[in-house]
Amino acid sequence: MPFYQRLGDVPRKRHIQFRDNGTLLTEEVMGLEGFSGNESILYHLTSPCRVTKVDEFEPIERDEWVPDGHQHRHFKTMAGIEPEGDAIGGRRLLMWNDDVEISLCRPDEEMDYFFRNGEGDEVIFVHEGSGTLETIFGDVPYKDGDYIVVPRGTTYRFRPEGEQRYLVFESPGLIEIPERYRNEYGQLLEHAPYYHRDIHPPTELHTHRERGEFRVKVRIRGGYQAYELDYHPFDVVGWDGYVYPWTFSIHDFEPITGRIHMPPPSHQTFEGRNFVICSFCPRKLDFDPLAIPIPYHHSNLNSEEMIYYVSGNFGSRRGIEVGSVTLHPSGIPHGPHPGLAEKSIGQTETHELAVMCDTFHPLRLTKLAKELDDGEYAYSWLEERAPAGDADEDPAGVTSHF
Ligand SMILES: [Fe+2]
Repeated sequence: MPFYQRLGDVPRKRHIQFRDNGTLLTEEVMGLEGFSGNESILYHLTSPCRVTKVDEFEPIERDEWVPDGHQHRHFKTMAGIEPEGDAIGGRRLLMWNDDVEISLCRPDEEMDYFFRNGEGDEVIFVHEGSGTLETIFGDVPYKDGDYIVVPRGTTYRFRPEGEQRYLVFESPGLIEIPERYRNEYGQLLEHAPYYHRDIHPPTELHTHRERGEFRVKVRIRGGYQAYELDYHPFDVVGWDGYVYPWTFSIHDFEPITGRIHMPPPSHQTFEGRNFVICSFCPRKLDFDPLAIPIPYHHSNLNSEEMIYYVSGNFGSRRGIEVGSVTLHPSGIPHGPHPGLAEKSIGQTETHELAVMCDTFHPLRLTKLAKELDDGEYAYSWLEERAPAGDADEDPAGVTSHF
C-alpha cells in the first residue's frame, strides 16, 4: 500500500506469458475497488483457485455484555489475559462496532494452518514478542513495538519467537496511511510523523514447491471457512504492486509537540473507516510559560476513545498500569484526575507509550470486558475514591492524554 514494491521474478510486461521450467505460471491480480484501486500482481506455480476440499465453516459468535450503566471504564489486561491458542484462534475480542474489532491476543501455540482475512484489513500491534509473519508476499519480520499492517487477501502464518502479546484491530474498511500525510503522488510529506524509510515491506520471498496437505482458513461472511489444498499456498515466484503487508515501529513515530497542548490528531498513525489509530510516544511537553502540559477536559460527543497503555510510568493516571485499557465513551466528558493539571505544570517531558483508537460510532463490549472491568474507574474523579498514585516520584510519567 505505501509505495511500489517488487519481490522475486516478474515478466517484462503485465499479462504476457511467464513460465517456470516451461510451465505457464498463473497470474493473479489482487486488487481493491474493482480494478480501480491499489493492486498487486502475483505469479503462482498453481492456480490459487485450486482446492481439494471445502471444509467446515465456523461462524463468529460475539459474547456481548450490555452493561447497566454508561460510564468510563478501565480494563486491566496484563494479568487478566492468559496465553491461549494461536495468533488467530487466540484473539480475544474486547470491543467492537461495525467498523472495527479490537482484540487482545497472547498466543502460545503455533499455527498449523494458513490464514487469510478475506473481508478485512488488520493491524496487529506487537506489545511483546518477535518473530516472522510468513506471507504469500514474503517474510515480514516483527518485534515488539511494531504495527504489522496486513491488507485483506494476504495469506499468512505467524511464526512467533518467545512470549507474545498483541493488540489486534480488524476492519471491514481499509486501514491506511492518513491522506493528509501524503502528496498527490502518494509520497509522505515533510510534516508527516513518519517516512517511507520507516515502512518495512516483506524482505525475502520463499517459493514453496512442495505438494501435500495444506489447510487455509479464510475469514469471510462473518465466519471462518476452511479449505484443504494439495499444494503449499506460498507458491509465488514473484509479485509487484502496491498491496502487501508491512511493519512500522511505534518507536519510529516522530512526535509533534507545540507551545501549548496539541490535540490527538497530531498523534494519528492510521486512518480506518470511521476510526483512527494514534501513537502516544515519549516527547518534550508544551513549552509556553503558561502551558498546562496535560490535556483539557473534553467531550468528544460523537466518538469513543480507547487507549492501550504500552509502557512508561502512568503514575499520574492513578490506577493505570502497563496493559491497562481505558474506554471513554461518547456523550460524557473526561479529563485529568483531580489535582493533576496543577501538578503537571513545569514538567518538560513524558515517557509514555500508548496506542489509542478513536471510533466515530459507539463500541459494544464483550463478556471479556466485563471480566476485566475494574468497576471503579468511573468514580476515580472523586478525590476520596481515586486510587493512590505515585506521580510525585516520577513526574516524567505524566500521561499526556486521557
Ligand atoms: Fe480523551
